[in-house]
Formats: sequence, structure tokens, C-alpha cells
Amino acid sequence: MFKCKITKKKIPQIIDFGKMPIANGFLKKKDFKREFFYNMGVSFSKDISLLQLNNHPKPEMMFNKDYPFFTSSSNFMKNHFKNYANWAKKKYVKKNETKIIEIGSNDGTFLQNFRSKNFLHLGFEPSKNVSLIARKNGINSIVKFFNRKNLIKFDKFVNKTDLIFGANVVCHIPDLVEFILTCDLALNENGKVIFEEPYLGSMYKKVSYDQIYDEHIFMFSITSIKKIFEIFDFQLIDVLPQNTHGGSMRYVLERKKSKLNRKVKKYLENEKKENINDVSGVIRFKKNCELSKEKLQYKLNDLKRRKKFICGYGATSKSTTILNYCNINSKTIDCIFDTTPNKIGKYSPGMHIPIVDYKNFNKKFYEYAFLFAWNHRKEIEKKEKTYLKSGGKWITHL
Ligand code: SAH
Ligand code: TMP
Repeated sequence: MFKCKITKKKIPQIIDFGKMPIANGFLKKKDFKREFFYNMGVSFSKDISLLQLNNHPKPEMMFNKDYPFFTSSSNFMKNHFKNYANWAKKKYVKKNETKIIEIGSNDGTFLQNFRSKNFLHLGFEPSKNVSLIARKNGINSIVKFFNRKNLIKFDKFVNKTDLIFGANVVCHIPDLVEFILTCDLALNENGKVIFEEPYLGSMYKKVSYDQIYDEHIFMFSITSIKKIFEIFDFQLIDVLPQNTHGGSMRYVLERKKSKLNRKVKKYLENEKKENINDVSGVIRFKKNCELSKEKLQYKLNDLKRRKKFICGYGATSKSTTILNYCNINSKTIDCIFDTTPNKIGKYSPGMHIPIVDYKNFNKKFYEYAFLFAWNHRKEIEKKEKTYLKSGGKWITHL
């Protein structure tokens, strides 16, 4: 049994993905012997309908001076954040000098859209390397985790913040209670918390179990967000599905004022219908994961038997779950091509597949390329148009 991170009640483990390394822990050969592993298990709290990891490394082990993920590495995401900002400005910006905070502001891609006199902005970004890039580009980014201790140093934002934003970060915060209390401390009376995270319903539908890794401590549904925030007298006032990261959901919350609106109610009813709100959904997902693993292993073994060359494309954190759960190493996948300078020349966590500069992708012909960055499919297929033409095939586990 494990303790629910919010209610502190005991909850059973439902899925065991086995031994896992740090998902973004791309490493050099000399560090293989010291590599850190933990057991990745998933449990579900019925009370708050929350899917969560049982064990995970400390946040400081993942979010530090060497964080290898840069929001701006995807043009699609840059554009998405521009649209996200424009939507928020239209809907929620009502006055001059609107005070906004972004949590997990990374290299400043989102906050770039708020660099005008109309806004006072602050980004909380504990990973120093990405935070410094944002700062170089004129973003007020501080190398700190978002919590009450760090917030109170910024007078102008205590009880005075209009909007708190986040994307793909709330699911990274193990102490969600501290996160909500910090939002409460920061927001003014009508303040809103707006964030978007990978969506449990999309993961179930696609069987994209690779969304589960150390950084994603929670996989939220609308029901879970409603229930968690209600404990602290916050109310869910809007939900907006997003097509980013394989299917995400944007949530808008404010302090409780009225009854649940019809739109949110409808979404909640739908989650009930699809068992996204209860344990039977997780049990079905577990079976689907096992089936997916068997199918993938069979497919790759078959290709290798037929002496096909296979490479990977996109050394995503998600790929760490697939490779380690399905036990796929460099005997099957020669290397993984990627654009990220911090990853190139290193090896994938756990399975130690070499990461190679994507510029070399066409130098040797691989009949099959495993697209680990399947959520960037359109952008990558466009960039690598010649690959299909020369007879190459993109494959995924989905
Ligand atoms: N929002 C960006 C980055 C997502 S990656 C995007 O969607 O592309 C998650 C980011 O959150 C990382 O840069 C990480 O350093 C940061 N982060 C993790 N925990 C945090 C916390 N408690 N407070 C603020 N930022 C955090
Ligand atoms: P993500 O799925 O966590 O966003 O990570 C995407 C990874 O894929 C990151 O390591 C960069 C890589 N990538 C490419 O190699 N080429 C591309 O065109 C894109 C969009 C991403």
C-alpha cells in the first residue's frame, strides 16, 4: 500500500512498470555505473480520482542546472504558447499592469508574449540553465521552485496576482497542497489559476503509457482537478481540450463563488461515462499496457530477425518509459536522433542507446525509424520529408 499524496490515505498499487532511471537523465558512458534507478509503480486514489506515481526521485534531481528540455525546441509549441497567451489576454485581462506569474516558465517562451507595459510578470523556474536563457531574453525569471517561502520575497505578487499560468508543470509538483496554498497566497480576490497538463482521458484512449515517468507524478483528469481544488475552496470554471503533448486539458480555477457551470458539468459526466473517474479505467489501461508491450516486442523482434536496421527519432523523456518497460536496447535500436545539444553525444537513460545529432539522420539508411517524439509527428515528418520518399517507415508503439 502507498500513501495518497493529497489525502494521505493508504491506496493500493495498480500498475508496476518496473525499474526505471531518471527519464531525462541522458548520461555519458563514464556515469553508467552510478546511474540512479527507482521502481515505477502507479496507484489510484478513489476519493479524489487521482492517478499518481508511488515513488519518484526528489525534484532537485530532475530540475537543476542541466535540465535538457527547452520549450522553444518545437516551433509548434512556440506557436501554441502564442495562442495560449492571446486567448488569456482576450478572456481574462481586464486592466493595465495585470500581474501574472508563470510556474515552470522554462526558457521564457510563454512569458515572451507578456513583455509589454500592460503586464508585470514573474517566472518561477528552478532549472538554472533554462531560467538563464529566459533572463537573457529579458524575462523576469527566478531560479526558484514555486512555494510560499519563495513567493513572499516578491511583495508585488503577494495577494496581488491576477493570473497564475502553467503548462506541463503542475503534474511535476509532488507537494500539490503547497502548490495550491501558494496560489492562494499569490492571488488577489478575483485571481485565477490557469494551467494545462497531459490528459488522463487521452492517455487511456491512445494507450500512451509513455506519458508516465518520474517527472509526471500525476496524470490528471477533470474530475481529479475539481476534487483536489475543492478541498481548498477553489472551483473549476472552465476546461478546454488541447492537442499538445498527445492530448492535454487546460483548466481554469478561481476561488469558489457559485455553482458548477453547465459546461464543466457536462465534461464531468462524460468522464464518468468513460470510467475516467474511477479505478476500473486504470485496470483496463493496465491490461492495454501489457498488450501494447507484447505487441511492440514482437514487432521489433520480428524486424530484427529479418535483419532490418532500426533507429529512434526524438530522445524524449517519454522514450525512457517505453525503452525500459519493454526492455529495448541498442541491439534493437542503433541510435536515437535528436536536435537537443545537451543530449547529443550522450546515452539514453537505462538502456544506453547513443543519442546522435539529427543532422546525421539521412547519412545511413534505416528502414524503420521509431518516432519517440510522436507528439511532434507533423513537425518532424515535414522536416524529414525525404525519409518517406526514400522508402523509410516511421513506427511507434501506439
Ligand atoms: N512550461 C514549459 C516547460 C515544461 S517542463 C512547457 O510546457 O514547455 C517543466 C518545467 O517546470 C521545467 O522547466 C521545470 O524546471 C519546471 N518546474 C518543475 N517543478 C517546478 C516547481 N515546483 N515550480 C516551478 N517550476 C517547476
Ligand atoms: P518532448 O516530447 O518532451 O517535447 O521532447 C521532444 C524531444 O524531441 C526533444 O528531445 C527534442 C526532440 N525533437 C527533435 O529531435 N526534432 C524535432 O523536430 C522536434 C520537434 C523535437
